[in-house]
Amino acid sequence: MCGIIGYTGKEQAAPKLICGLKRLEYRGYDSAGIATFHRDDFSVFKRKGRVSELKGGETLQGNCGIGHTRWATHGAPSERNAHPHAFGRFVLVHNGIIENYLPLRKECEGRGEVFASETDSEVIAHLLEYYDSGDVLAALKKTAARLTGSFALAVMCRDEPNVLYAARRKSPLIVGRGKDGSYIASDVPAIAECEELYTLRDGEFAVLDGDNIRFYGEEGEIKKETMKLVSKADVPEKGEYAHFMLKEMHEIPAAIANSLLDFEENSCFSAINIVLCQTEYIEIVACGTAYHSGIAAKHAIEALARVPVEVTVASEYRYRDPIVPKGTLVLAVSQSGETADTLAAAELAKSKGATVIAVTNVPDSSITQLAHFVLFTRAGREVAVAATKSFNAQLALLYSLAVALARAKGKRADPELLRPLPALSEQVLAETEQMKEVAPLLLDSRSVYFIGRGADYCAALEGSLKLKEISYLPSEGYPAGELKHGTLALVDEGTPVVAVLTQHALAEKTMNAVSEVSARGGKVLLVTNLPEYCSHRSVFRSFLLPPCEELFSPILSVIPLQALAYYTSLARGNDPDKPRNLAKSVTVE
Ligand code: AGP
Repeated sequence: MCGIIGYTGKEQAAPKLICGLKRLEYRGYDSAGIATFHRDDFSVFKRKGRVSELKGGETLQGNCGIGHTRWATHGAPSERNAHPHAFGRFVLVHNGIIENYLPLRKECEGRGEVFASETDSEVIAHLLEYYDSGDVLAALKKTAARLTGSFALAVMCRDEPNVLYAARRKSPLIVGRGKDGSYIASDVPAIAECEELYTLRDGEFAVLDGDNIRFYGEEGEIKKETMKLVSKADVPEKGEYAHFMLKEMHEIPAAIANSLLDFEENSCFSAINIVLCQTEYIEIVACGTAYHSGIAAKHAIEALARVPVEVTVASEYRYRDPIVPKGTLVLAVSQSGETADTLAAAELAKSKGATVIAVTNVPDSSITQLAHFVLFTRAGREVAVAATKSFNAQLALLYSLAVALARAKGKRADPELLRPLPALSEQVLAETEQMKEVAPLLLDSRSVYFIGRGADYCAALEGSLKLKEISYLPSEGYPAGELKHGTLALVDEGTPVVAVLTQHALAEKTMNAVSEVSARGGKVLLVTNLPEYCSHRSVFRSFLLPPCEELFSPILSVIPLQALAYYTSLARGNDPDKPRNLAKSVTVE
């Protein structure tokens, strides 16, 4: 989390830094800052709050500078803890976490050094000052060797006014060369105008001086291949939509269509097919929304291919000494491909002999480097912190994989069943404005519950996550049958309960839970593809989905729930694109 940027070249740095930070704001937005070098000294401008607070900083002079937009880990969101952090001759911005910062800080304080912030990052500037004896790159290498944890760093030294130094370990960092100079950034859109882009790998360093860019590994200077050219279209725009979230929801049909696997055309399919034939057991590791798509995939894979699947939250998997039997396939699902917990879980599984397939939306992300195989969801860039189209795209891809696995195992599974999903999602989207009328019912509730059975439970979990993260209403997703074992005690007059019901065989069972809720005064919103239940006396309101293959129904039933979260967020006066305390890409533990 946190976005960093750096520029050195012919133009004024400050406007470029602020423009880049705006495009990185999805990575964190509780404070922001820039530093430029001018007339033998640094000028630093930082503010609490969003990048828009940096307006006054645009006039900072200098052709070389660094910038940062923060998602606080160590130290409250405040101007004091905002980056850049300076000490002695150095000023820097950092994305990541320095896990051993406390002993390092003590060491520095033992030398009489005074710290200006509560952050873990500031200690890096102190170490640089300590190790520098005229060779900044050597000092940066020595400093990096002392750090435990993750970092993407952009550093300036007072002795070399136009030079930027960069270092990376487990936090993304891109280097670019443009018409007017050289850049460093956490992600491509910030520097999408560059003509050449390079990805810095773990343990690598870069030195940028005007147009001149050099890369270094542990052993010395290295040559790097450029990434594929990125067009301007990669810079996301809201267009006619009020928010990225709304726009991205409207991109769901295309995201599904583009993510359904066409195995004939997939060049790595023959290799994957061999893996699928040998797979005896699947473990899906993921976080948040991606974890929920894993739960939906479990239902589809087990039903179609009869291969057992476990779905584990990546942060739990990485610390539980997992058992990895022969024939284990690990699916590491991550929209960003940068989630630290998912990366660590995939790495651990690989070290224990599992075959790892990454399912990600971002080409060249860290997870693509460590997985044996990569399957890309093609949802297009997702900017809103709350995942929407990427979830539907993950489901499309994982359902296709379930079909492929079933066929590899000699079971009957018809890929044609997937084909109607894009058009059906279009139909659902066209109805989602109904949720505008439902949102006011949630506004003053103390809590909201989402229930469902089987595949519907996954949609319930995801609907609940969406609602809590952007509306800030306490909300829980529950298996419908589990409600009566405790949570029903929380339902009283007016408590909103969203029930998802698309599994015909389980319909009566789910309706029992609906009746139990309604009998206690709860108000049930039923999201279903079974019209006969819409007028049930225990149902307060309903949303009717078009019929679709039951196993795949979460890809549709989640859409009205995403819309409900969106409109509730608006009705509560929140910014649905940038929920408090969260960030799009969670690159720290
Ligand atoms: C979803 O709306 C989230 N904001 C969050 O749960 C997200 O899905 C999670 O952090 C995993 O991200 P990833 O898919 O990029 O790994």
